[in-house]
Amino acid sequence: MAWFEVSKLRKEYPLGESVKVALRDFSLSAERGDFVSIIGRSGSGKTTFLRLVAGLSSQTSGEIKYSDGRKPRIGMVFQEPRLMPWLTVEENVVFPYKPLGRKNLPLKRARALLEMLGILDYKDAYPSALSGGMAQRAALGRALCREPELILMDEPLGALDYFTRNALREEILNLYMTEAKTILFVTHDVDEAVAMSRRIVVLDEGEIVCRVKIDLDYPRKRTDPAFAAIVEQLLVSIAR
Ligand SMILES: Nc1ncnc2c1ncn2[C@@H]1O[C@H](COP(=O)(O)OP(=O)(O)OP(=O)(O)O)[C@@H](O)[C@H]1O
Ligand SMILES: [Mg+2]
Repeated sequence: MAWFEVSKLRKEYPLGESVKVALRDFSLSAERGDFVSIIGRSGSGKTTFLRLVAGLSSQTSGEIKYSDGRKPRIGMVFQEPRLMPWLTVEENVVFPYKPLGRKNLPLKRARALLEMLGILDYKDAYPSALSGGMAQRAALGRALCREPELILMDEPLGALDYFTRNALREEILNLYMTEAKTILFVTHDVDEAVAMSRRIVVLDEGEIVCRVKIDLDYPRKRTDPAFAAIVEQLLVSIAR
């Protein structure tokens, strides 16, 4: 089996007298070091899927399994930064260590991450002093601090302006290249998915309707006809 294997996942939410099926027959596998994007319209089940993988909610049926039989360390980035306003940037970044009851927090690692993300000068600042892009960088630092084996990103760049978005996209790709993390990335943005991922699945009403493998080298160019052809294929599958 692959390192990460999801089979026949189904998630129902109670909705008044009936149920809303948010995911149905959802199967997906990934090897370590994979970068899989999940795209689809609003309400297609993308966040539901990431929440199940993170263990933030449980499926109605189906399985999420790892070949080594244990759940990996997971880091998650949400659409909004979700920083704790009463903690400094650095305290936010090391926050995932708190529940472990560690005496010595890995401040060195936190600082190295903040430096990499370009916000080290703000380590003692509170989140209210950060711009949206800086706050999202801090959230990325928090997700990376515990050296996650699997990173879940739920439209992490959605709320950012064009320039910040491009810069942070580069940083995520660099991180992917240098640390060979396994990433599950949710986005609305088809171009973004094609620029970044090795594989893309398209979700429609909780079902995977299209799977695409991308063999283009990084960095990828939008002007490359092969890039444009994949975007076109995905847009057609979403518009169905
Ligand atoms: N806690 C909940 N209770 C009831 N229904 C829910 C709940 N969470 C999600 N849903 C429903 O499940 C479906 C999938 O929602 P989900 O948040 O996974 O979509 P999404 O693809 O992430 O959408 P978006 O792009 O807008 O973030 C939607 O119809 C939503 O209304
Ligand atoms: Mg969502």
